Amino acid sequence: MSTPLTSKRDSFGSKIGVIAAVSGSAIGLGNIWRFPYVTGENGGGAFLLVYLSFILLIGIPVMLSEFVIGRRSQRNTVGAFKKLAPRTPWHIVGFLGIIASFVILAFYTTVSGWTLEYLFISIKNGFSGKSEADLVTQFNTFTSSGLRPVLWQLLFMFFTAFIVFKGIKNGIEKYTKILMPILLLIIIALCIRSVTLPDAGKGLTFLFRPDFSKITGKVLLEALGQAFFSLSIGMGTLITYSSYINKKENLSTAAISISLADTLIAVLAGVAIFPAVFAFGISPNEGPSLVFITLPLIFDQMIGGYFFSLIFFILLSIAALTSTISILEVAVAYLSEELHISRKKATIAASLAISVFGIGSTMSLGSWNWLSINGLSLFDCFDKLSANILLPLGGLLIVIFVGWFLGKDQVFDEISNGGKLKARLRWVYLFIIKFIAPIAIALVFLNSIGLFL
Ligand code: PFF
Repeated sequence: MSTPLTSKRDSFGSKIGVIAAVSGSAIGLGNIWRFPYVTGENGGGAFLLVYLSFILLIGIPVMLSEFVIGRRSQRNTVGAFKKLAPRTPWHIVGFLGIIASFVILAFYTTVSGWTLEYLFISIKNGFSGKSEADLVTQFNTFTSSGLRPVLWQLLFMFFTAFIVFKGIKNGIEKYTKILMPILLLIIIALCIRSVTLPDAGKGLTFLFRPDFSKITGKVLLEALGQAFFSLSIGMGTLITYSSYINKKENLSTAAISISLADTLIAVLAGVAIFPAVFAFGISPNEGPSLVFITLPLIFDQMIGGYFFSLIFFILLSIAALTSTISILEVAVAYLSEELHISRKKATIAASLAISVFGIGSTMSLGSWNWLSINGLSLFDCFDKLSANILLPLGGLLIVIFVGWFLGKDQVFDEISNGGKLKARLRWVYLFIIKFIAPIAIALVFLNSIGLFL
């Protein structure tokens, strides 16, 4: 069943709206919570170097490929493949994305719930005067307490559903435009405080001086996974979002500027966290609790720390929200366009189903600790499964699809807006998505399961 391209699909209103919405999806807990903790666990500088190379060589080209698929088809992630490759199994890539959206939201809303709790603690000035040990206890007691983190998580899911329910243009764009730049300013303030702490140099050395002996198969896979996760690529989120982008937009410059902005925020988060980690004697491989222990300690040492922490956790919650709405939109766009379920019902059904997994993820860190596989809690399994497997696998299939199936003429037509733009780097892009990106992703996979190197 085909819908004409000019059907009354919602679309983004302005250029800045698109950039804002896609950056809103990209910038989130992945940059501020996940990047520092994964960098800390994987040895610092060498990880950062690999991460940056993957952003350039694989991340930006995959992002542009998602834009090509989305804008060309103007469909949800399953419909997009059905339209561009009718009567082929390619739409399975779209389904893979929908599975990934469930898995990611299940644990992402757990952490989003933590940010709400930390906002609440900030309001009560509850970090003031606390030692590192107090903060560790506070974090562990809260995250394992069962009901409370689940309630925050469900509240967060509710906010997400509410915005998705209202539709793209009125919801998503509006919230991102102003708030992301303010978040950037606060992170810069945190960086300044952190690098002026005693012993800050050790943290900067840890983050910026690569120790190449630390690069292992696991480090490569973690860096690849983090790059995909942070850029929101590999599961059709950006296929879905770019299906709302108008035909005049320059896709290549959008992909480059959004990826650079996302990377800048992640690196700045690292600059804010690691000097403080060393100054306060925290272990860099503390895991998911890292930023929730380190940041309150920095705020406590800042002039105006109370207000900074308050505004920071408000903005972090919003940054998480602009990411969760982009993830939920993947499933909702699919259900409403392909299965013809109303947007309202689709939003409710998807949110309820995701919440069931989400509760499992949150509870697996507390009294339901039997919810674990090989010693990893369900929460950790969802985190690793999505970032390190589902997203890179999706990305691999996406570049193969665009590079080998869609064909150069369609690809060049789309990135040059029908010949109106020069798209000077189009051959470089084509070469990367045909050869470099798929081979690199495949090697990282093979290497991590011990089949190569
Ligand atoms: N990129 C988001 C972040 O860094 O927090 C997380 C995310 C959003 C991952 C959307 C995947 C996705 F499709």
